[in-house]
Amino acid sequence: MDRDRLFIFGSAEAAAAAVADRLAALASENKTSGASQLIGLATGQTMAPVYAALLEREQARSGLFAGCRFSQLDEYLADPTQPGAQPPFFADELNATFFSQLTGGFGGFLALDGQTDDPAGTAAAHRRHIAAAGGLAVQLLGIGVNGHIGFNEPGTATDSICRVVDLADSTVARAGLAAGSRAITLGIADILEATEILLLATGPAKAAAVAAMITGPQSPACPASLLRDHPNFCIVLDEQAARLAEID
Ligand code: F6R
Repeated sequence: MDRDRLFIFGSAEAAAAAVADRLAALASENKTSGASQLIGLATGQTMAPVYAALLEREQARSGLFAGCRFSQLDEYLADPTQPGAQPPFFADELNATFFSQLTGGFGGFLALDGQTDDPAGTAAAHRRHIAAAGGLAVQLLGIGVNGHIGFNEPGTATDSICRVVDLADSTVARAGLAAGSRAITLGIADILEATEILLLATGPAKAAAVAAMITGPQSPACPASLLRDHPNFCIVLDEQAARLAEID
């Protein structure tokens, strides 16, 4: 792992602000050049301060994201045997914490529908839509306590693509979902196709997964370790998440 691509901050807020700065810089490039590069978004607790910081950046520069297109990394699937909408859907989280609060608008969002009656078709279409949009300029990622990225749980192969997956027990428990819950996720191969990968991990619960990602064997046992050969893989940590990794 190239030490130049590893950034460690004193607090989760500072780490999230650094990630927001990078995404805002890309948005600014889009605004200046008129290009509309695709930004892949992630969700979860780690990302909440990133979206708060992005909204601050937009307040300081109206219309910052007006030309940006975004896409969704993963989504929980509703249980088809139960009536109506269920999990807390990531698309709703992104709408509430980010899109709905952008005063200057945004260029578009390739969302995943967690209530689809054709999950496999939805996954295949998502991949096609990302390719048709020119591919991912950057994919934002968190990391699971078990080393998952997106919902590529331990055991996932490097050549995996966007698909329906069963969630690991630890993922289901952490999210408070029903046992046996499923999701749609971009695969590791899809993530590796992004021009840039930006991973944020904060807090002590992520320290073991971060150590495995950075210094453990490159193995499907820790899916995040499979990203290490990407030429533009940037890891942003707070000190607590970095604490078990042996970094010179
Ligand atoms: C969410 C996602 C997941 C999370 C990971 C960490 O879009 O892809 O891989 O990034 O589970 O979640 P938090 O930040 O809630 O600990």
